[in-house]
Amino acid sequence: MSDTFDTTASKSEIYHPSAEVLASVQLPNYLELREQARRDPLAFWDARAKELVEWYTPYETVLDDGNRPFFKWFTGGKINIVHNALDRHVKSWRKNKLAMIWEAEDGEQRTFSYFKLWKEVNRFANILKSMGVKKGDTVTIYMGRVPELPIAMLATVKIGAIHSVVYGGFSEQALADRIEDAKSKVVVTCDGAWLRGKTVNLKDIMDEAIARSPVVQRVIVLKRTGQPINMVSGRDFWWHELAALPIAGPYCETEPMDAEDPMFILYTSGTTGKPKGLMHTCGGYQVHIATTLKYAFDVREDDRYWCAADPGWITGHSYIVYGPLILGLTSFMYEGAPGYPYPDRWWQQVEKYGITILYTAPTAIRGLMRFGDAWPARHDLSSLRLLGTVGEPINPEAWRWYYTVIGRERCPIIDTWWQTETGGFMITPTPVVPLKPGSATLPFAGIEADVVRENGESCAPNEDGYLVIKRPWPGMARTVWGDPERYKQTYWAEFERQGWYFTGDSARRDEDGYFWIIGRMDDVIKVSGYRLGTAEVESALVSHRSVAEAAVIGVPDELRGNVIHAFCILNAGVHGDQGLVDELKAHVRHEVGPIAVPAAIEFVDSLPKTRSGKIMRRLLKAKVLGQPVGDTSTLEG
Ligand code: PRX
Repeated sequence: MSDTFDTTASKSEIYHPSAEVLASVQLPNYLELREQARRDPLAFWDARAKELVEWYTPYETVLDDGNRPFFKWFTGGKINIVHNALDRHVKSWRKNKLAMIWEAEDGEQRTFSYFKLWKEVNRFANILKSMGVKKGDTVTIYMGRVPELPIAMLATVKIGAIHSVVYGGFSEQALADRIEDAKSKVVVTCDGAWLRGKTVNLKDIMDEAIARSPVVQRVIVLKRTGQPINMVSGRDFWWHELAALPIAGPYCETEPMDAEDPMFILYTSGTTGKPKGLMHTCGGYQVHIATTLKYAFDVREDDRYWCAADPGWITGHSYIVYGPLILGLTSFMYEGAPGYPYPDRWWQQVEKYGITILYTAPTAIRGLMRFGDAWPARHDLSSLRLLGTVGEPINPEAWRWYYTVIGRERCPIIDTWWQTETGGFMITPTPVVPLKPGSATLPFAGIEADVVRENGESCAPNEDGYLVIKRPWPGMARTVWGDPERYKQTYWAEFERQGWYFTGDSARRDEDGYFWIIGRMDDVIKVSGYRLGTAEVESALVSHRSVAEAAVIGVPDELRGNVIHAFCILNAGVHGDQGLVDELKAHVRHEVGPIAVPAAIEFVDSLPKTRSGKIMRRLLKAKVLGQPVGDTSTLEG
């Protein structure tokens, strides 16, 4: 079942919190609090909802479970995350505190105080209104990693609209599908984005996506690279030109929202080709992310916090944009790729900005580890006090490198397991929890997770099983946009009788109750921590004129966690040579995006299928890995 490597090597290796950490931690009694939360989870969340965020109107009920699995949290409450992330800080002493420090790939630097960010958000909110965006409308945002991306997100939510951010690494078809599904009349993009010294033509990609998805009426374009682009008169508008008009006034009222109103949609890969838009709501989501960020990362007023993900993924939504702003932190955001132009770019930035918390993914850690210890050794990394990881199981070797070479054995490694669907951390230590390299340790306070057998019985220690969540939590996605049945089927059908949420992951629990995530059990492949559905890549392959049928699998890779191997049946008369391999790779890059490009493409005459016609990817995988094929009794005769 294991999709990854070396996750079991170190069960007996334990790192206890140092005396220094214990002396300074703000929540030394976290484990007691967790125990209380286990006994009364609703009281725990109720207390956090009162402590960490402000409500325009108090809620009446913490959890409404009358229509399972469509749970509602904090019903009756009126709230807006932008009030908690910006408005209230601007009225406090934090007004002039730095909210965001941004560094461009070329070294340019921009800073935003809470007041400045608030004004920019107001201005853009007014621009969106002038483009006809109203409460409940969706706005698709497709940009590089620039400050205007969080500004556009915050402005959308400020006026009660719903954002759908599409990661800038996706291409035409992926973008078109997402715009179409969300039915966004207004989209926000850039002329281009900088990546490793080159530009990515975001506006060209947007133009092609709009041609495939004609719901779009207005395009707002941020000038970032200055490259020549096509502007369609009456449809496309420059951000800076709109911002100079009287309509872009510096004040816009924040819209009070019902706790259960939609706040954003975020698409993620599932088992079919159709993108699945997870919908998060205004109340529970913010309570969940503020609580988890505060406790798990033990954040402080004077932190310089850096979550190095992309705002276009859930990690960025929850822990670059909204969580840190709610808690009034100063965040750092970097436009470019790690290791560009030099392998010590990140370490230089940690030193330069005095970063105290760094949160990234195993794939980035492994990528930087490859360059050797000399690069980080050149820099003073002593400002760091806590390191985080997310996205896939971290192999103990990378964990130890992160701990020793980057954290200099002083910083706890907070390995956070969670998903787009969960909104925020679910299984994670805090600095007081003893650590085991490769384990996300224990469910967070108020979260009930378990590893179970198919029949629902809890697994024995160290037995592989299904990772389930047994109680609802405030940050949970409420539905799949426009398709509640799919939400039910995907997450709640596997353990319908028990009413548990199935994560799609396999895991095991050791004798200390520590969770070890093994990997995905469904047709989702994690490539460099990015989540891709086999169907999405397969449909891109078969959309090429030479390909009749395709199947893709994930194969373990030392650097990227997994890479994609594709098997294609070609149309009659087509010759499969290296030229076609290159063409197909370029085609997938164009349709889905660079992260989806298969590392290998093999041409075959047939694919192993069940009698009902389902491709048996397991057999393909066994073949590539040289493993025994196991039970083939359902194989087509
Ligand atoms: O397989 C798990 C893996 O990432 C999946 C969720 O992917 P996504 O929705 O893209 O969200 C990623 C960022 C939250 C999970 O089902 N995963 C995430 N974090 C970890 C992990 N696997 C092991 N350890 C983690 N810390």
